[in-house]
Amino acid sequence: MNYRHLYHAGSFADVVKHVVLTLLLQQFLKKETPFCFIDSHAGLGVYDLGSYEARATNEAVTGILRLLTLGSDLPDWLLPYWKIVQTLQSNEKITVYPGSPLIARDFLRPQDKMILNEKHDETYEALKHFFYRDPQVTVHHRDAYEFLPAILPVKDYSRALILIDPPYEKTTEKADLTAALAKALKRFAHGMYAIWFPLTEKMPHLELGKELKALLPAEKNLLIEFSIADPASLEKGLMGCAMIIINPPWQFKDALQEALPSLWKILSIRSQGGWRIFER
Ligand SMILES: C[S@@+](CC[C@H](N)C(=O)[O-])C[C@H]1O[C@@H](n2cnc3c(N)ncnc32)[C@H](O)[C@@H]1O
Repeated sequence: MNYRHLYHAGSFADVVKHVVLTLLLQQFLKKETPFCFIDSHAGLGVYDLGSYEARATNEAVTGILRLLTLGSDLPDWLLPYWKIVQTLQSNEKITVYPGSPLIARDFLRPQDKMILNEKHDETYEALKHFFYRDPQVTVHHRDAYEFLPAILPVKDYSRALILIDPPYEKTTEKADLTAALAKALKRFAHGMYAIWFPLTEKMPHLELGKELKALLPAEKNLLIEFSIADPASLEKGLMGCAMIIINPPWQFKDALQEALPSLWKILSIRSQGGWRIFER
């Protein structure tokens, strides 16, 4: 396992994923019934953008730092996400970036809980330390694809959001994910799943593959593609990202249709790339 998210913290892909995450989590607050947030590839709770790793790639420059250009002119859908980012900073600069566990923690009410999982030893230790003594959070140190079907369904929580955010460093990642998702859906068919994918110059659109396509429940999923560059303008690297939302909230497409165009205007490089939302 070579992947360290610290090299990519606060990138445009993090911003897109985390804005979508905040939009999903807000929906859970509409009902009093408890919910559980599950993060199979949790990473760290928080990332230092001044670290050697973050500065080596400077991905925050084309990500979270672009949001500073908005000044105080923030659209409503961005406010919950922005508030979480802002609360972490000690001055007006953005020097620290929240990971998905910290973002989700902000939404938990006393009746809700969060189950995190991370396989990398040091990252797991740091994450466990970060949420030490938080009675609403448990942290596992397992392989995500063994963890996922094993943890579901979560006793006493009929509502759950499951974030699956792998690094895609292994050639078998998509096949492993598909196999685990098949088992997870069998055990917990009505859970809400949010799965992140990279878009590269080699794969500028979401290619699900036969097996994954077959798993998606008909008319119960949304697919999002978001790119900030054209495939031809990048020789290598991430030009976009995609997400599948299985069992999305009612009218969630409308919320995305409001947020994604503005987000794309802020993040795109010279108006390249684009966004689309589709159902299948
Ligand atoms: C993209 S990062 C997660 C970022 C985090 N979800 C966020 O949005 O802030 C992927 C994480 O998965 C971990 N990881 C990689 N393979 C894993 C596996 N098979 N099981 C569990 N964790 C894994 C990596 O160590 C890394 O911390």
